[in-house]
Amino acid sequence: MPWPRLSSRLPRDVAPNAWARALAERRDAGVPLWDLTETNPTAVGLGGAGPDELAALADPGGLRYEPDPGGIASAREAVARYYAARGSGPLAPEDVVLTASTSEAYAHLLRLLAEPGAEWLVPMPSYPLVEPLAALEGVAVRPYRLEYDRQGGRWHVDFDSLERGLGPRTRAVVAVQPNNPTGSCLAPAELERLEALCEQGRIPLVADEVFADFPWPPPGDAGDAPAAPLPSLAGERRPLTFVLSGLSKVCGMPQLKLAWIALAGPGPARRVAQGGLEWIADLFLSVATPVQLALPRLLEARHAFQARARERLARNLAEIRALVARRPELELCRADGGWAAVLRVPAGRSEEEWALGLLRRGVVAHPGHFYDFPREAYLVVSLVVPPVVLARGLAELEALAAEG
Ligand SMILES: Cc1ncc(COP(=O)(O)O)c(C=O)c1O
Repeated sequence: MPWPRLSSRLPRDVAPNAWARALAERRDAGVPLWDLTETNPTAVGLGGAGPDELAALADPGGLRYEPDPGGIASAREAVARYYAARGSGPLAPEDVVLTASTSEAYAHLLRLLAEPGAEWLVPMPSYPLVEPLAALEGVAVRPYRLEYDRQGGRWHVDFDSLERGLGPRTRAVVAVQPNNPTGSCLAPAELERLEALCEQGRIPLVADEVFADFPWPPPGDAGDAPAAPLPSLAGERRPLTFVLSGLSKVCGMPQLKLAWIALAGPGPARRVAQGGLEWIADLFLSVATPVQLALPRLLEARHAFQARARERLARNLAEIRALVARRPELELCRADGGWAAVLRVPAGRSEEEWALGLLRRGVVAHPGHFYDFPREAYLVVSLVVPPVVLARGLAELEALAAEG
């Protein structure tokens, strides 16, 4: 028996697949790679914090420690102002709870809403984040499917799979708006149906909106016209709703470690949830005082960051749209927003073969199964990588596709 004996909630060692092995070998050998999977804004020349934002962390108020489990008032007010500026319904600062990251926000909500053995419903495909966080709390995830309708050119929720997933152990439904990597948001009718199900079943809705400030420009738009903002679930809602976001994506500052949960829904349920969340947050008090004090200034800095990030998104998207126009066997799945593009590639090769073929040419792209795509063959690429990196990666993809 290996020692120390680790909790069974940690993942068992799984043998890496051929692509993951080949990637690790190349990285270990220091082979230069064109990485189309990078989404860390500070690694792609888009970091949102500069000297002014660092200076804001030096507020002398940060010399004192007067913890407030939900976050200090000025920081919660700044989050409420952010939603007001986005045009959301009313959000009281008391309905905001600060966390160190969106991942921590998920962990708090798992602890708040689910006991071991309970279940959360999560979209599939999606970024593989909730499952390990849930496993760490002894909670199981059940997928509900997102399907891409090629005729209509949009993703939609497979409500049969969602309703099949609902059961006596369901403690929350997660909606990622826009989803990573599909970039899809719920259509108004889908949102209404999902909210009705949650309300009837008294099941809270967890809305992960970390990418909601990044709507895609329509085809043909160079990114100078402002794209219509994506809606937020913060504000007045029928079911109890927890909206998650944070500095990582809103401001391009993942290193500053501040995110939040905004509560929405009926007042009595919200107050019970708020009390529980503050009790959990009080055990950790994980958000540092200097970053809380700086939050109003940091959130102001989002405008400049988002303008740069949107310009990058528009330019990279235009490059991909030009590629699929030249190569009709490649398809860009339509999306509402976010930092990822999903490319459907001919299924004559498996996803693994596509990803390996690209890797042999020095290009890293995620195969769809990394995000649990139910069918082959998809590749996922980041839209925030430097345009020169994307252009090189796409040129190699085009050459690989031309090999047939
Ligand atoms: C959809 C989604 N939610 C949350 C996160 C994690 O965000 P944070 O850096 O705030 O933990 C990610 C990370 O990429 C993500 O893709």
